Amino acid sequence: MESKYITTPIYYVNDSPHVGHAVTTVAADVLVRFWRLKGETAYFLTGTDEHGAKLAEAAENVGITPQELVDKYSAEFQKAWDAINIRPDGFIRTTNPKHEQFVQNFLQKLYDSDHIYKGEYTGWYCTGCEEFKTGAQIGEGNTCPLHKTPLKEVSETAYLFRITNYESRIKELIRSDELKIRPESRKNEVLGFLEQGLHDIAISRKNVAWGIPLSWDNEHTVYVWVDALLNYLSASKGDVLEKSAPWPPTVQLIAKDILRFHAVIWPALLLAAGEQLPKELFAHGYFTIDGQKMSKSLGNVITPGQLINRYGVDGARYLLLAAVPFGTDGDISFERLDDIYNADLANNLGNLVNRAQVMIEKYSNGVVPSGRIVEGYGWNVSKIIDFEGFDAESINPTLGNLSARYRILNQLIEETKPWVLYKAGDQENLNNVLFTLATQLVSVGFLLHPFCPGSAKAILSIFDTSIDQIDYATLGESSHVAGVTIKPIQPLFPRLNP
Ligand code: MSP
Repeated sequence: MESKYITTPIYYVNDSPHVGHAVTTVAADVLVRFWRLKGETAYFLTGTDEHGAKLAEAAENVGITPQELVDKYSAEFQKAWDAINIRPDGFIRTTNPKHEQFVQNFLQKLYDSDHIYKGEYTGWYCTGCEEFKTGAQIGEGNTCPLHKTPLKEVSETAYLFRITNYESRIKELIRSDELKIRPESRKNEVLGFLEQGLHDIAISRKNVAWGIPLSWDNEHTVYVWVDALLNYLSASKGDVLEKSAPWPPTVQLIAKDILRFHAVIWPALLLAAGEQLPKELFAHGYFTIDGQKMSKSLGNVITPGQLINRYGVDGARYLLLAAVPFGTDGDISFERLDDIYNADLANNLGNLVNRAQVMIEKYSNGVVPSGRIVEGYGWNVSKIIDFEGFDAESINPTLGNLSARYRILNQLIEETKPWVLYKAGDQENLNNVLFTLATQLVSVGFLLHPFCPGSAKAILSIFDTSIDQIDYATLGESSHVAGVTIKPIQPLFPRLNP
């Protein structure tokens, strides 16, 4: 079976990571873990974008060299991902000499085959975005609408890429979903943009020293976005990492602001080089705070570390994905996150797990009894969760289904009142309830694994099992738990009292 390959953007290392970066990286981690649950082979790539004027300026502002700056923050990103239990297979840095060499060779090939030519480029540049802005992207008084800072007028000799040659091919690939862009609204947005017509783009900068020199003209360095986009390919074909990625990407996760780079420039570069294209680009929205995009430049960030301190590792992972449907914009605040945490995790899941284990201990000497699933409380998991088609758009519905499940199981306890059944000596019905709870908690533990691996492992450990002992095809109906002596765990997701 062909290996799946998922990527996140590589992050600029001018500052520490915030939850806007974490959400994409957690989502990729969840998808990979989900695929692996089904027995598929998958590769997960993330990394850091380390060249360009923006980083050189950030280093100058704090009086260190660009290399010192990128070493410091790249390490911070790696530490942050480790702390939130994100486990990439490859972490790529664009200052890795093997990546630099790969980029040089790639562009030399395009230059030799006349895809690149020398010309003049004039435009309005935003260093924050590392982008020449055109048309509606230029704000009032020649400012960047995103960064609210003045654009720089640049007129310089540059090497240009004949992207216009690929305009109609790219349109066709996107229209036909050969290059899938999701959500659907983003596909339409790109097609609309392509309708306006493309212009050849500069792939080099003359006065940016912190970059990869062009192999045929070292007065120029590679435009940072071209250098950055090529990371996905160099991780596969550039011998950059200990373990190389497969090719092509199954899905590339990005946020909506960097869609055009990925949906237009990136496929054009690949087509010019004769490489296969990614199968899908998925663009999510922004976390906002009081309606404003959360960003380092606006100074309104929440960090993954703050979430971990308050909600634990799994609480943080859960909230990043549950707070805002993956794909849309959404406002976050600690108040809102506290509410979701208490409702979904503390009162709902944490309470359920705790009650189930206490009741099995008390009413069944700690042994899961044999029994039948209580009618109406069975759960045909494969009908609710599309294992085969699980993708970025499945994340929120799956979390919703899980949450509904915790509620239903708590309701089972409320309705059947096992403490009454016990007192009345109604062993058969009591056994059925305890058996149902145990069986269903094993399914919950299995499905929760990609989202909250630590808690999922703990839930499964109560029933002396683990994810690799479970077959998803029989989830929800397996009776392997009968006769198991449970191993109670510490309460999960303690309630917050804000
Ligand atoms: N270095 C480029 C990406 C190159 S990929 C070949 C870059 N880096 S970034 O660090 O500025 O942003 C990385 C990603 O984080 C982008 O997809 C960006 O949109 C996303 N986010 C930054 N702030 C965000 C929010 N407030 N909310 C959600 N995602 C956000 O762009």
